[in-house]
Amino acid sequence: KNEKIQLLRDAIVSYPDFPKPGVIFRDIFGIFRNIVAMRAMKDLIVEHILFLEVDLVVGLDSRGFLLGPIICMELGKPFLPIRKKGKLPGNVVQHAFTLEYGEATFEIQTEYVKKGARTIIIDDLLATGGSMVAAIKLLKLSGAEVIECLTIIELSGLKGREKLGIPVHSLVQYD
Ligand code: PRP
Ligand code: HPA
Repeated sequence: KNEKIQLLRDAIVSYPDFPKPGVIFRDIFGIFRNIVAMRAMKDLIVEHILFLEVDLVVGLDSRGFLLGPIICMELGKPFLPIRKKGKLPGNVVQHAFTLEYGEATFEIQTEYVKKGARTIIIDDLLATGGSMVAAIKLLKLSGAEVIECLTIIELSGLKGREKLGIPVHSLVQYD
């Protein structure tokens, strides 16, 4: 397990001063360029989730979309996206929030969330937690039971975890 986590750590490239001065951007796509690291990532997530008895996996726009479906194929469970506003048709509920650098509104197709569905939310990275808080809100409004938030990377220094009120599992942490 620790070897797999080290593979991920080695594959993530850090870019100082992107997208603006003072921010160190941790780039998940290094993992996707390296098939061994990508498999390790999938294994670590699936091993962790298997015993949680999940009914639904929700991924966040946009990099959560790369992760959710890989996991769903292994679990045999459905995937549902949360998207930035104006992209999803049908009955949507929305919630506005603040990002580490900017603002956004999230939407979900609320009719596809079954009442009480045991749900995990997956994304590439937890920073301030603003996106996750908004996602949790949307899922609760839709009647889901959010079991856990799962990210590949956690920027621990920003203390996003403390805002969620729901367990967080991350694979690689940075201060
Ligand atoms: C990034 C990242 C997370 C979110 C984390 O996405 O992929 O979704 O920010 O930040 P937070 O914890 O402070 O909310 P971004 O909004 O840049 O969108 P993208 O995935 O479409 O690039
Ligand atoms: N990397 C990728 N996405 C992000 C980051 C980061 O460091 N911070 C906020 N969103």
